[in-house]
Amino acid sequence: MKIPFSPPYIDSSVIEEVTDALNSGWITTGPKVKKLEELVCSHVGVSNALCINSATSGLMLALKWYGIGEGDEVIIPAYTYAATALAVIHVGATPIMVDINDDFNISAEKINEAISSKTKAIIPVDFAGWPCDYKEIKDVINKNQHLFSSNNNKQEQLNRILLISDSAHAIGAKYNNEYVGLCSDITVFSFHAVKNVTTAEGGVLCLNLPKPFDNQDEYNYLRCYALNGQTKDAFTKSKAGGWRYDIIYPGLKINMPDVLAAIGVAQLPTYFSSILKERENIYQFYQEFFKDKSWAILPPFKSEEKLSSCHLYPLRIKNITEETRDSIINHISEKGVAVNVHFQPLPLLSLFKGMGYSISDYPNAYDNYKSEISLPIYPQLTQGELNYIVKSVEQAVESHL
Ligand SMILES: Cc1ncc(COP(=O)(O)O)c(C=O)c1O
Repeated sequence: MKIPFSPPYIDSSVIEEVTDALNSGWITTGPKVKKLEELVCSHVGVSNALCINSATSGLMLALKWYGIGEGDEVIIPAYTYAATALAVIHVGATPIMVDINDDFNISAEKINEAISSKTKAIIPVDFAGWPCDYKEIKDVINKNQHLFSSNNNKQEQLNRILLISDSAHAIGAKYNNEYVGLCSDITVFSFHAVKNVTTAEGGVLCLNLPKPFDNQDEYNYLRCYALNGQTKDAFTKSKAGGWRYDIIYPGLKINMPDVLAAIGVAQLPTYFSSILKERENIYQFYQEFFKDKSWAILPPFKSEEKLSSCHLYPLRIKNITEETRDSIINHISEKGVAVNVHFQPLPLLSLFKGMGYSISDYPNAYDNYKSEISLPIYPQLTQGELNYIVKSVEQAVESHL
């Protein structure tokens, strides 16, 4: 059997919607993007959502929106994909990495230790679709209010550290019975090819700013900023007589094209009505199978406050070394099952090592990494394939104990 790790879910509705975009005479940002933004708002419950060309761009845009740059610090977990840190570096600020809890997510206690008078934002990551400890993180922000000083108008209005969720994995996850998107000031979801909902490449930035901000005004500003700071998008300019525009900000060029948004337009309603549930069923199947294995550490799925979006199934094996984990993965791969590791903690990667970050400062990140194997999870998997996956994992692990 050959089981890929994460193929995209492309059904006939996706083909129809993309074909419609291609036949419409308009392929870049226009009506399909607008439709996808409306769908995100109505399903997630946020008032405003801006589609961009990646979650990485969305994180950069959020940081730029708050005027974050040189001399500022942004707190992030050491256990994430590089994009979280790179977004901070791209705006000229310094990522301050902190360690994680046993559930893979950033530790509120470690955030508390890392906050300084330079901290302008915190970017928690909802790893695998499991929401962070938002209440505890907000308490830490409020507790350290006295350290915050504002450098511009937006910072004066919010008058505290900005909370940006890197929810690349977490569309459809819930925190306190609300969808993730309503836990932070700004939430960024990814629509990358391997994500629960995709546009091939893309992302969406959701606004949930408190008063006195007007989220519609901030959306208008961000939309313009994401299109070179240009007052009119190409769609509006293309109408007869609509040619004149102005450039009013040093903007980025990070808009999403309609031909890609069309994939998301077709996927998003089906995701919320059935595919999310199918992912949950697979997650629960894995939980049931591994719960009696003395060597398995199950990932979090559901608690009183939280429900995972089941983006990844990050199984951990007790008391193994990194080398044994790698050998187990080789064994599973020989059976034709593609598995993965999420993530290599950032301090293990050359760029960050070279910047002076050291894995010895992040013992929980290393412990989780060295024992983690992500299993395939997507709706196309048949029961026969799922049985084959768990048996392959069981055999591989037990031959190493
Ligand atoms: C935690 C996390 N943040 C950010 C990103 C970046 O998403 P994108 O590829 O849409 O820029 C990813 C992508 O895998 C991710 O896993």
